[in-house]
Amino acid sequence: MDHKIKTIGILTSGGDAPGMNAAVRAVTRTALFNGINVKGIYKGFNGLMSGNMKNLTLRDVSGILERGGTCLYSARCPEFNSDEGVEKGKLACQKAGIDALVVCGGDGSFRGARDLSLKGVPCIGIPCTIDNDIAATEYSIGYDTAINTVVKNIDKLRDTSQSHDRCSVVEVMGRNCGDIALRSAICDGAVSFLVPEIEYDLERDIINKMRTTLGTGKSHFIVIVAEGVTQADPKFEGDEPMDAARIAAYIQEKTGVEARATVIGHVQRGGSPSARDRVIASEMGHYAVELLMKGIGNRIVTRQGSTTTDVDILEGLKMEKTIDINLVRVANEISI
Ligand code: F6P
Repeated sequence: MDHKIKTIGILTSGGDAPGMNAAVRAVTRTALFNGINVKGIYKGFNGLMSGNMKNLTLRDVSGILERGGTCLYSARCPEFNSDEGVEKGKLACQKAGIDALVVCGGDGSFRGARDLSLKGVPCIGIPCTIDNDIAATEYSIGYDTAINTVVKNIDKLRDTSQSHDRCSVVEVMGRNCGDIALRSAICDGAVSFLVPEIEYDLERDIINKMRTTLGTGKSHFIVIVAEGVTQADPKFEGDEPMDAARIAAYIQEKTGVEARATVIGHVQRGGSPSARDRVIASEMGHYAVELLMKGIGNRIVTRQGSTTTDVDILEGLKMEKTIDINLVRVANEISI
């Protein structure tokens, strides 16, 4: 790779995540500080292919650090799953004079970055997804803000559940990953939580636990369900997917405790990024540009413990995310 890159492109792709703006700002400012031009590409890989981009100045990225969402807009781009799409992306980079690309997003976006890398455009991935489901990194930008949003919302549900001696069944995001569900279960003292990584049994994991705690005098309950569970499980009464409302009805029928379902939904994706997300996004954005300046491309910036580091994009995408089994044990043992 040519070490003297003159222009970096940056885009945000896939589901937005609080802190994406902080990453865009850090990439832009670090590049400009080092005499490298930056092209902000709008609407992810769609904008790359159509040339929807502009040069970013220092002031273009002012006032975005504390804002959720992404000033570059985001999109999922099925066309970039095809070779023709990636070829278009490569040609667009050549046309715009983009020597290297920074992609802020999740696994899907990194697959696009990998394919573009294989065509000779050096790419760096910055992990941004509230799901925290990227195996290569212990932490993805947006997760901390999202989990704090979830916890604040469940705190409110707890107030009303307590007043009415009810059970709140709460569906949280996490398509294939139970990290939001697991940690919010700990933060909110949920009696039970269901995650896509662990096979569950409603009788054993919810009903029996509720009966036991009813016996110790508890009268209100929080049950947390990751959306991946509700989408994936066809085994409950025929082949209809499970959802929070069906679980709530089942709980009410089996335990006699009145139950209500709440889907927190896209609220989890918005809001001003937490301090943690702003710091990590700033560090990762800075790190991404430093890699490119050293002539290193085709990497995913990662977080291991409190260290920012990087991994080969092909290797990173082959890794498999697992749930923290010790934390699962903690959650289960203190929810009695
Ligand atoms: O990947 C983040 C995420 O919020 C998932 O938790 C969720 O399944 C998905 O995005 C929702 O995507 P969309 O914004 O397309 O509805």
